[in-house]
Amino acid sequence: MKIAIGNDHSAVDLKNTIADYLVSMGYEVINLGTDSRESCDYPVYGEKVGRAVAEGTADLGIAICGTGVGISLAANKVKGIRACVCSEPYTARLSRMHNNSNVLAFGARVVGDELAKMIVKEWLDAEYEGGRHQRRVDMLAEIENRG
Ligand code: RB5
Repeated sequence: MKIAIGNDHSAVDLKNTIADYLVSMGYEVINLGTDSRESCDYPVYGEKVGRAVAEGTADLGIAICGTGVGISLAANKVKGIRACVCSEPYTARLSRMHNNSNVLAFGARVVGDELAKMIVKEWLDAEYEGGRHQRRVDMLAEIENRG
């Protein structure tokens, strides 16, 4: 499975930690984030992750900025993306099971390395339940289609 990972300047170290962790679990990582600590703009990287997932270059995406908010907002502007900011594993798991999230976002200034790994693991191990949740996920797409 291919995971696209994107980040701004605030999250270079955490991006590397998470990328190594993903590789250690057997995932293929596509690095779409910056590797520089010079100030840059999170929308660029949120969009890159969103497009990689929406276009099928990656199966899922992980987006990291200072809080996870800005980069998730950018990813969510790409049609078909359901990006969720998760600062703990429970929400990460439920975002997959109920919301079929396809981009996980979190903040490098919010969570530490070990908590971030737990969030990622919980998210990747969870499966979308479909069923009653599909109607609601379809409603999200309808909002998008109405523009
Ligand atoms: C950058 O300083 C910071 O604003 C950005 O990483 C992010 O937290 C925005 O939502």
